[in-house]
Amino acid sequence: MWISKLKLLLLVIMFTDGKGKRRNALHDYQKVSEVTLIRTDMSLDIKTKLLNSTELCAKRCSKNKGFTFFCKAFAFDRSTKRCHWLSFSSTSAGVRKKRDFAFDLYEKKEFIRDCIHGKGENYKGTISVTKRGLPCQTWSSMIPHEHSFLHSSYRGKDLRENYCRNPQGEEGGPWCFTTSPEVRHDVCDIPFCTEVECVSCNGESYRGPMDYTETGKECQRWDLQRPHKHKFRPERYPDKSLDDNYCRNPDGKSRPWCLTLDPETPWEFCTIKPCAHSIENATDITTECTRGQGEGYRGFMNVTYSGTPCQRWDSQYPHQHNFTPENHKCKDLTENYCRNPDGEESPWCFTTNPNIRIGYCTQIPMCDVFTAEECYHGNGNNYQGNLATTRLKLTCTMWNENMEELKRLIFRGPDERMLNKNYCRNPDNDVHGPWCYTDNPTIPWDYCAISRCEADPTPPLSKLGDSVHSCGSSKHVRIVNGISTQTGEVWMVSLRYRNKHKCGGSLIKESWILTASQCFPSRDEDLRHYEAWLGVHNIFDKEEKNKQIMNISQLVFGPKGSNLVLLKLSRSAVLTNFVGIIKRPYHDCIVPEKTVCNVYGWGYTGRTNYNGLLQVANLVTIGNDKCNENHQGKIIVNESEICAKSESDPAGTCEGDYGGPLVCEEDKIKLIQGVIIPGRGCATPNRPGIFVRVAYYAKWIEKVLLTYKVQSFS
Ligand SMILES: *[C@@H]1O[C@H](CO)[C@@H](O)[C@H](O)[C@H]1NC(C)=O
Ligand SMILES: *[C@@H]1O[C@H](CO)[C@@H](O)[C@H](O)[C@H]1NC(C)=O
Ligand SMILES: *[C@@H]1O[C@H](CO)[C@@H](O)[C@H](O)[C@H]1NC(C)=O
Ligand SMILES: *[C@@H]1O[C@H](CO)[C@@H](O)[C@H](O)[C@H]1NC(C)=O
Ligand SMILES: *[C@@H]1O[C@H](CO)[C@@H](O)[C@H](O)[C@H]1NC(C)=O
Repeated sequence: MWISKLKLLLLVIMFTDGKGKRRNALHDYQKVSEVTLIRTDMSLDIKTKLLNSTELCAKRCSKNKGFTFFCKAFAFDRSTKRCHWLSFSSTSAGVRKKRDFAFDLYEKKEFIRDCIHGKGENYKGTISVTKRGLPCQTWSSMIPHEHSFLHSSYRGKDLRENYCRNPQGEEGGPWCFTTSPEVRHDVCDIPFCTEVECVSCNGESYRGPMDYTETGKECQRWDLQRPHKHKFRPERYPDKSLDDNYCRNPDGKSRPWCLTLDPETPWEFCTIKPCAHSIENATDITTECTRGQGEGYRGFMNVTYSGTPCQRWDSQYPHQHNFTPENHKCKDLTENYCRNPDGEESPWCFTTNPNIRIGYCTQIPMCDVFTAEECYHGNGNNYQGNLATTRLKLTCTMWNENMEELKRLIFRGPDERMLNKNYCRNPDNDVHGPWCYTDNPTIPWDYCAISRCEADPTPPLSKLGDSVHSCGSSKHVRIVNGISTQTGEVWMVSLRYRNKHKCGGSLIKESWILTASQCFPSRDEDLRHYEAWLGVHNIFDKEEKNKQIMNISQLVFGPKGSNLVLLKLSRSAVLTNFVGIIKRPYHDCIVPEKTVCNVYGWGYTGRTNYNGLLQVANLVTIGNDKCNENHQGKIIVNESEICAKSESDPAGTCEGDYGGPLVCEEDKIKLIQGVIIPGRGCATPNRPGIFVRVAYYAKWIEKVLLTYKVQSFS
């Protein structure tokens, strides 16, 4: 039956192939991202020019004007906006493909594909044997058959080598003279584009080259929004292979379709050969839980989230519908089980309640949400997965509901196309990976339950020795009451648990303290047992009159592996000559080697008769490489850590000091460059101390301070 349909199709294509004036030339090209072609044969021609769009490059190449060669492809350098027009394609001899992130390669389809539409007059592929298996005679040769089909008299017909061609558009399709003296010419067996790949089920896995609809309309490229605006942008549906303008089925229709170049017809189905055996490719089948959007869910849940029983898929009562088992083969629309045949958010069903047409079955648990099966590369700003849960198991909220907030507080120019639904994303290129907004008012946003892929190295940051960028600037010195608060250790905090000193900390804003997460070993700690003392020097002296005692209202844990926590105070500290704020370094700045720093703490001193006074030790910073050497390979310090050591006596940090700061001076300004954490040893000779490098987490701190609202109790 579909054979006769095909014949009809051929006719129609001939009529509609007459290209409209406004047709975008990119439709003649097949795109490969992040690839370019390198010639090994230097006699091949290239021409380049600055042009700011691929459309213009394509137009020039298609018109083939102004070249000394025939343009077969072009590579577009996105960074410099330059076209490189090529006299060759990836199938030419003397050429190889090269991965290059700056380039996208566009090749004229006619030169690279081995299938035809209609009579194949435009076929320019490299098949050179006939249907009977006879090798073709070279067009420029008159042996064994003399003929008049010369390259020069058939301009644009590409009578090259001995490739099958159809220069006169004959019924039988591309042909050639054969090398057999007995057979003058013969047709070649070049498949129709409708046949090169068959469709099983509803064609969601079809990746073939058909680019015309069933009535012969040319398909619109998925990466263009003209003539039809649409939501199926390739970058949004990375697993749907929305390549060029090929027929695809990204949304669970009954078979592949495409947008069309006819302004009157937004989309149409494509006719493609069905496979003999439609086998479902069971990659993601689950029965007890849903993965992703649950398209592979084949379990037996038969009620909706609200408990309403489901209607059978093979019944039209109480709701009439097209989701019959016949229409959606391979979707397992059996009984009345929850299914997701159409790419919805989750499995669903028609309900047996005449007043409620559809119900979602979100009560089916998600599979492996927290086992981090997924991972991200780099900073995760290209992460396109469906994870929508934070590391504290909160559900993410929709990006579009938070867009104003995002632009106002965090990042002015997010790529909104990437921010679909409520999926974990990284619009501001956060060093610590994808995150999302939540609907918990005390946790406006948090990082997601996903880690960097193990094989993936930490993205490179500035290295010691690179042009050192400063950590602070003198503009920022804060003066209170005419006295610089930088005089004493006014930002030093004693964190107390059940009224005993437990950890150090630093006041970095009126209502925020930065300390080590180890000071709160259980995340669900009852914060009532904690206090923060500000403005104290001697923690034994009960009478210190400049002391401010604060309650802690919230812990905000730092990014994974940071060992940091921010404490939100239940009310703001009052800045005085004795209580002040320590400056934070700029994001990712480098503290030069041999900078003189201090560590402060009320911790264990090695002395028995400790008097309760704040202790200070002098350290100088050393580079990470030297630090590793000093530790003789027992510890490898990384980008998130900073090393400093005592130049004289063994001095350093110990229990009770954790959470306290490593403070270094730059241009007379004191900056908090490190946080003391456990596990890096009490002061030992020749072993530098290792601290959390605050500059590495500066953006996280800033983001929390900007977005986590301080409740005002009235
Ligand atoms: C492309 O460049 C032309 C001039 O060179 C300029 O007028 C035009 O605005 C540019 N278009 C884009 C999209 O940058
Ligand atoms: C199923 O998928 C695998 C890998 O993705 C592929 O190799 C195989 O050919 C597919 N089978 C069918 C029937 O599509
Ligand atoms: C749902 O499935 C269970 C077990 O298969 C069955 O006992 C029950 O009757 C079904 N409920 C509905 C509403 O179809
Ligand atoms: C801290 O909380 C306690 C009760 O948990 C309360 O009695 C006390 O007044 C609070 N202190 C401050 C400074 O808010
Ligand atoms: C640096 O090393 C520490 C300790 O091994 C680890 O906890 C942390 O995750 C590492 N940080 C980075 C950014 O690799």
